[in-house]
Amino acid sequence: MSVTYDKRGRAALHLARAASLAPSPHNSQPWYFVEEGYDHGFEVHLDGGRRMVLTDPLGREAVIACGAALFNVRMAVRQLGFRPVVDLLPEPGDSHHLARVGYAAHAPSTPEERLLAEGMLRRYTHRGRFGAEPVADPVLEELHEQARVEGAGLQVVDDPDQLALLAGLVRTAEELHRSDFGHATELARCVGPYGIPVEACRHHPDATLLAGRDYLFRARRYHVSSRNHGKGAGTVVILTTPHDHRPDWLRSGQALQRVLLHAAAHDVMAAFHTQPLELPVLRARLRTDITAGRYPQVILRLGHVPQRPTWCMPRRSPVQVLFRDDAPARW
Ligand SMILES: Cc1cc2nc3c(=O)[nH]c(=O)nc-3n(C[C@H](O)[C@H](O)[C@H](O)COP(=O)(O)O)c2cc1C
Repeated sequence: MSVTYDKRGRAALHLARAASLAPSPHNSQPWYFVEEGYDHGFEVHLDGGRRMVLTDPLGREAVIACGAALFNVRMAVRQLGFRPVVDLLPEPGDSHHLARVGYAAHAPSTPEERLLAEGMLRRYTHRGRFGAEPVADPVLEELHEQARVEGAGLQVVDDPDQLALLAGLVRTAEELHRSDFGHATELARCVGPYGIPVEACRHHPDATLLAGRDYLFRARRYHVSSRNHGKGAGTVVILTTPHDHRPDWLRSGQALQRVLLHAAAHDVMAAFHTQPLELPVLRARLRTDITAGRYPQVILRLGHVPQRPTWCMPRRSPVQVLFRDDAPARW
């Protein structure tokens, strides 16, 4: 494949811009995109060099992030008025080439697709407590359906015993991460103008029912009482899949993004608490005791945020993540 950096098409830049808005572990943005010449297609690749090596040794979370980017590409193709044709893992010998998206017949986008596309700009990751207003039941039901359409499940964890177990598993994982020098350093390196802005990490990581990441080592300096942990917890949900291979991770990412965009369109934001899914023993416990044998892929709290943040989460620009393949079309 001969890849060049210039002459990138406008449609491809539009898709790359949309893809880059996806969430990724600690804003690592572990992706790059390739435009196949003459609008033949758009490729989503995993950038192995941007993966969190210690936190995510198998690259499961990085692939989930790329799946979320892929969902945005699908919505952006719909914004252009075409139907996307998606081929997952199109090259058997290249596990980093995650998807190829082609343009099929022209068809106007539906109101639901327009809602999801609008959600791309509204969505952001929340950290800390949520406002008092609960997520309405009809919205929760719609979120179940959004996950199901993409081949995943969305389990609400509201049983007090299961919630306590989950909170314990998140805390155990978080304590293990905090006491591991390599892990803590890897996380701290994500904070800054090209990763997570300092302003986004100012909340105390122990002030919520599920412990948060201690990006700024605040827990070492200040202790908070666990008395008010239940306050502003929001609705706890787990995204699950029946299997746990690369295509399942890609599907999880697309389901995650579909859920997040639908939620954002209804002013519901998400906080991530994926720590126990990064430690095989804790993930296995969660799988047997909470998700009834299904594989937990992402743990979220959902809720309403009284005020939008004042900072912007940085992203690499489309020209930094988009390359052009000038090889003859293969399709
Ligand atoms: C698979 C995955 C796991 C994540 N885990 C966490 C987490 O444990 N804690 C957290 O604060 N954010 C987590 N995030 C959210 C990212 O930090 C966030 O997406 C990134 O900083 C970009 O910000 P944005 O979502 O506001 O655009 C995760 C995102 C993904 C896709």
